Amino acid sequence: MTKQIRLNAFDMNCVGHQSPGLWRHPRDTSSNYTSLAYWTDLARTLERGKFDGIFLADVMGVYDVYGSSPDAALRNGVQVPVNDPTLIIPAMAAVTEHLGFGVTCTLSYEPPYPFARRMSTLDHLTNGRIGWNIVTGYLDSAAKAMGQARQVAHDTRYEIAEEYMEVVYKLWEGSWEDDAVRRDRASGIYTDPSKVHRVAHHGTYFDVEGIHLSEPSPQRTPVLYQAGSSSKGQAFAAGHSECVFVGAPSRQIVGPTIARLRKQVAAQGRDPADVLVFGMMTVIVGETDEAALRRLEDYKSYVSHEGALVLMSGWTGIDFSGCKSEDVVRHIRNDAVHSAIDRFTIADPDRIWTVGEVADFIGIGGASPVIVGSPGRVADELEAWIRETDLDGFNLTYQVMPETFVDFVDLVVPELQRRGIYKRDYSPGSLREKLFGSGPRLRAPHPAARYRRGAEAVTGDILPEPVAALR
Ligand SMILES: Cc1cc2nc3c(=O)[nH]c(=O)nc-3n(C[C@H](O)[C@H](O)[C@H](O)COP(=O)(O)O)c2cc1C
Repeated sequence: MTKQIRLNAFDMNCVGHQSPGLWRHPRDTSSNYTSLAYWTDLARTLERGKFDGIFLADVMGVYDVYGSSPDAALRNGVQVPVNDPTLIIPAMAAVTEHLGFGVTCTLSYEPPYPFARRMSTLDHLTNGRIGWNIVTGYLDSAAKAMGQARQVAHDTRYEIAEEYMEVVYKLWEGSWEDDAVRRDRASGIYTDPSKVHRVAHHGTYFDVEGIHLSEPSPQRTPVLYQAGSSSKGQAFAAGHSECVFVGAPSRQIVGPTIARLRKQVAAQGRDPADVLVFGMMTVIVGETDEAALRRLEDYKSYVSHEGALVLMSGWTGIDFSGCKSEDVVRHIRNDAVHSAIDRFTIADPDRIWTVGEVADFIGIGGASPVIVGSPGRVADELEAWIRETDLDGFNLTYQVMPETFVDFVDLVVPELQRRGIYKRDYSPGSLREKLFGSGPRLRAPHPAARYRRGAEAVTGDILPEPVAALR
């Protein structure tokens, strides 16, 4: 059977997101991001186009690597100002029935206990449509704002993340049994205390003693997204992720990245098909190829090259402010996003990038490839990407909001549906059920399942103590 293409809109609670300078375009409305109507309108458009979800990026800290100052980021509106991504989700959930929400939250600056409750609350309020993009951050500016001298080293961040996951799995999966909440008016028992279990976690980085505060939500553990591409990042993704997000300019890089990832997933005893891989993608569509090309030229005239290099500097931890346009981009290894510098250097040795070319490229859709053309051409290209790289779907960037998504829904979605490679309607259930066709909960051999209690417990688990036993 032909693979069904999965689609997320890629967005962030700020202006412009992946297209620096485009907020100046006369038709762009992204500076309305501070209003709820902006988000509810977008959610309705995406659900009309049967998008699987909206994927909300978030970065704690400002992009102040460029010129060792936040000024260029502030001037160009490069992912600052930026609001909290979680707070817009309930409003979007209220006006939709099926759209999923993948929200990026860094685990580096929030203890697992309150974070687990926030995710459970969102899972309740969205009726099981929440996903979490697990990130550890990459900006020193965030670490400094949080009282640290600099961010924790790249590989150590993944070690901390491993333990963080163990804690939140214990809270989400192991603290409350499915039938703990009785709401029994006759006996006056709201919750049966013998079915609520204290988590007693004492590890290297976290100590947590207590019961989870939220009652069981539809999915318990949110659908887990991850976007690390380094070897540590891929090992983490292979162990935990249900959806992986990759971003690179060419199929030559994306294909082998996915092959390595699926191998690692299999090595962890999981079915490689249990992980959906989304590629960052930019689509500029028109009624005809010529109309789409005209639109690209129009968009290009609003790109901020300085803004593009602010992004590149932040992702890579390399200050590009003193570079000339013709300077060649060279590889270095530091504590920022490894894949961000790799994709313009060692990941494709046949392609040499100058700083000017990188700025041009990032100006439209960040580090994603760009497809320009008629609906037929766009559909051909999307199919080719899936066929040649083994992607499952795309996180679509926008250039002009809401034009990019309205055009995609009106022009490309019907073409994909006509070809039988995109759903005509949603399937029922939680986000996890819609994506994987299974139940709403994570199943063994996923590590989260180890902490489950009661009827669904996996035997041999190391389980937390019941609350009643403490009394
Ligand atoms: C396509 C893509 C999107 C990402 N989105 C975010 C984000 O929204 N917030 C964030 O803090 N990190 C984000 N990251 C960074 C990753 O989560 C990860 O921390 C980073 O890639 C470092 O891991 P690596 O060196 O293993 O690639 C993203 C990375 C990629 C490739």
